[in-house]
Amino acid sequence: MKGLGITVTEHLLIHQKESPAATGRLTRLLQELIFAAKIISREVNKAGLVDILGLTGDINIQGERVRKLDDFANHVLIYRMERTGVVCAMSSEENADIIPVPEDMHQEDYLLTFDPLDGSSNIDANVNIGTIFSIHRKVSDRPYVTLDDFLRRGSKQVAAGYFIYGPSTMLVYTTGKSVNGFTLDPSVGEFLLSHQNITIPERGKVYSVNEAYTSYWDEKTKRVVDYFKSQENERGKPYAARYIGSFVADFHRNLLYGGIFMYPADKKDPAKPRGKLRLLCEVAPMAYILEQAGGAATDGEQNILDIKPSALHERVPVFMGSKLDVEKATNIMQGKD
Ligand code: AHG
Ligand code: MN
Ligand code: MN
Repeated sequence: MKGLGITVTEHLLIHQKESPAATGRLTRLLQELIFAAKIISREVNKAGLVDILGLTGDINIQGERVRKLDDFANHVLIYRMERTGVVCAMSSEENADIIPVPEDMHQEDYLLTFDPLDGSSNIDANVNIGTIFSIHRKVSDRPYVTLDDFLRRGSKQVAAGYFIYGPSTMLVYTTGKSVNGFTLDPSVGEFLLSHQNITIPERGKVYSVNEAYTSYWDEKTKRVVDYFKSQENERGKPYAARYIGSFVADFHRNLLYGGIFMYPADKKDPAKPRGKLRLLCEVAPMAYILEQAGGAATDGEQNILDIKPSALHERVPVFMGSKLDVEKATNIMQGKD
């Protein structure tokens, strides 16, 4: 019957033959992720009403004060994903080390990396936040999981996506063939296909970067940002500045409308010389989505998906979004333009 919409599961089954990675087990994994996201979405949507805002008082591996919703989202994801029966280990932005699934739980060879709640500094202000996930298959034949199993190039992902909790809760993901968006219909508790085969405009009209850090950037980075602000660019007029400070929200807007998101290397924190965003749980999954949507993502030198990670929480500078805008930014960073 028309108008009943296509659920994620139905969509996966319809496209299973197209996506080599979309096996029944991946469907199982995504269904559990969706269940966890529904629980997180429920808490996010009532965060203003119960005392789940504010801080737990803990400091996480990133050295950031952990907000209760961060903690809650992290625990929900770990608890649910241990019970999929197909995940053998996880890595979370909130945990220093990898999280093996307990021996007594059935497991197969999927590896899940996630940022349980991105943009958490915005929670109290009711700004869109999200959950980012990246899925790999374990390739080593060791009977146990090691850090090395997670340190793999973004090009080897089998699926990646994010949930965005805002005016509506959405899921956007790819299994390596196309990018599709599903919107949660809370009245039936199902994510229904709402954005089929998302492609990002080749050139955008928006640039997203935190210009408060201008004095910490090198000259090339300043030239990149000046390009998007000038009248002498290919558009003949400045790009609009849009920066929410919630990566998932900034990314999602640019994916749909076009544009470039940048978090360059800066000198504001000697502990983070390569910028703030984490390769494995934030940047690589979004780069994988962009590649499937016709966009691009570099660290100013190379394709994000080609970077071989050397640490679980490695940070990388990022220039990502519309293909022509990322090419321009990368050329300037490389002194070619
Ligand atoms: P998280 O909440 O997972 O720590 O991520 C926050 C990130 C990202 O969402 C956003 O783009 C960036 O922090 C904003 O950083 P600045 O405040 O330095 O611009
Ligand atoms: Mn984040
Ligand atoms: Mn986070």
